[in-house]
Amino acid sequence: MFIDSHAHIQIDQFNSDRDAVLQRALDVGVSNILIIGIDVETSQKAVELAEKHENIYASVGMHPHSATELTDDILSTFRVQLDHPKVIALGEIGLDYYRNLSPQEIQKDAFEKQLDLAEEMNTPIIIHNRDAYADILPILEKRQGKINGVLHCFTGNIELMQRSIDIGFHIGIGGIVTYPNAKDVQAVAKQIPLERLLIETDCPWLTPQFRRGKRNEPSYVPAIAKKIAELRNSTTEEIGVVTTNNFNTLFGTGL
Ligand code: NI
Repeated sequence: MFIDSHAHIQIDQFNSDRDAVLQRALDVGVSNILIIGIDVETSQKAVELAEKHENIYASVGMHPHSATELTDDILSTFRVQLDHPKVIALGEIGLDYYRNLSPQEIQKDAFEKQLDLAEEMNTPIIIHNRDAYADILPILEKRQGKINGVLHCFTGNIELMQRSIDIGFHIGIGGIVTYPNAKDVQAVAKQIPLERLLIETDCPWLTPQFRRGKRNEPSYVPAIAKKIAELRNSTTEEIGVVTTNNFNTLFGTGL
């Protein structure tokens, strides 16, 4: 039993074989998938897939790459979508200082506006962060107790992990943990309190080592769980069960 807590199977790279991808996930025990929006179009497509498939949930939001696109009208659209029973989170939102596809001040403004919406709607958030812990963690610390969610694709060190869980956040570990040189991520996967751990693919990107170079997909989640289990001296099954329970607790699903 596994849940892929972060997938982008609504995008074009899956147009030719999306149903087969979903079936392969079910075949290896990936029972649920959270599909993450990165802009208006991909958020709407995530909602549509969630309506069509019982085991799919959706998240809507504006990625920092597209922060310049965020308007009050779009925030209103997200607000309406968040009332949908299958839309369980706001995101991915955050800061990306690695590619800086939107100016940093505009990224911060879009991030704060969407955090306001998350507070208003009392919905968990999916955080995207690249080279921006120094700004993201203080922003989240100011809202501690009023927001919760997951720092997806976590690549920080133990100290940053500890600060993140002190704020109340979960940590999403993906395919990077399987890469031989990913020492920080492996240390976090080994030491994080189990009740704060989520697993994810971030497909079609960040394919685990055994398929590296190919398109990623939700059926590779067990390979990520297996690597985490090896690091923790646990079992793939236990990591699957615990992360499934964590997901259901955080997002209020599985009832
Ligand atoms: Ni993503």
